[in-house]
Amino acid sequence: TRRAVVIGVGHYLPDRVVPNSYFESTLDTSDDWIQSRSGIQRRHFAAEGQTTSELATHAALAALADAGLVADDIDAIILATSTADLTFPSAATMVQSALGMKKGFAFDLQAVCAGFVYALSTANAMILSGQAKRMLVIGAETFSRIMDWTDRSTCVLFGDGAGALVIEAQDGTGTAADRGILSTDLNSDGQYKDLLYVDGGVSTQTTGHLRMQGNQVFRHAVEKLASSAETALEKAGLTAADVDWVVPHQANIRIISGTAKKMGLSMDRVVVTVQDHGNTSAASIPLALSVGRDRGQINPGDLIVTEAIGGGLAWGAVVLRW
Ligand code: ACO
Repeated sequence: TRRAVVIGVGHYLPDRVVPNSYFESTLDTSDDWIQSRSGIQRRHFAAEGQTTSELATHAALAALADAGLVADDIDAIILATSTADLTFPSAATMVQSALGMKKGFAFDLQAVCAGFVYALSTANAMILSGQAKRMLVIGAETFSRIMDWTDRSTCVLFGDGAGALVIEAQDGTGTAADRGILSTDLNSDGQYKDLLYVDGGVSTQTTGHLRMQGNQVFRHAVEKLASSAETALEKAGLTAADVDWVVPHQANIRIISGTAKKMGLSMDRVVVTVQDHGNTSAASIPLALSVGRDRGQINPGDLIVTEAIGGGLAWGAVVLRW
């Protein structure tokens, strides 16, 4: 049985760190409100002119170095993002060029905060079908570019960053003891588009900002995330009791802990980075995987569930053995 196995991980955060107190002078908000409602203490913002493909390239180079590979060893790049540099070409082809790759293929994938889970599922399908042997799967965002800085209910929640995995086709036994991606579960329901969206885009000839009915999104999140994670575990013939680490999309500590509780898992099984990164949308899961590995939380052989929900609504989960 062919398996898509993680052989490298890396991340990049822009230098500028912005604490919650930064918002207290311009908005009717407080460090205390932001921390107690979201768990966020600080976030990174990209420098002026620093683009998503630049953040993605840094993360990709870190993941390649971790795998002991060079760009020429890779035959495909998927970049999950909702904040590409330009309408086209894809930010993924910009990363390809920055890495000096002249072969293979690269494309962007857009599923907002669920983007990395969608990208991992897509990469897995391409590895299993033989379309690619070694892939970079990247999540990178500059959500600071789509914030309405007068809207306290959104602009304090998001940050910029990038994370990347190198995954490789390897032979497995076909059992859940294999390293690599064991199962995936993807969902969306477009009837909820008004809960979380950007009110502008190319086809409407407008530019826009992120709009969110936070408490409505929250209501859907815990239920849908726990259900998708459980579905993915079931597809792999596993249960929550088999899980070493939940690596959730980092939007809000209350969603993260609510989902863990619903799955019957204690918080010491959950990788949490939201306090330092804020919500980095499609970048949050690969960032958390990379930071979790660097902290010594995630080790080879660990059974990991990633889960995410975002605009669409779109949500899903991936079960993998590190
Ligand atoms: N500072 C102070 N008060 C604030 C702030 C702020 N920054 N933001 C909102 N408030 C106020 C509101 O105006 C409201 O006041 P009111 O009662 O007078 O109207 C009050 O706080 C409560 O607002 P709620 O929205 O009900 O607060 P809640 O406890 O739900 O927390 C939050 C808000 C943090 C946004 C939460 O709903 C949340 O995290 N939602 C989910 C976000 C998310 O996960 N999104 C999905 C991923 S993002 C993506 O896909 C791009």
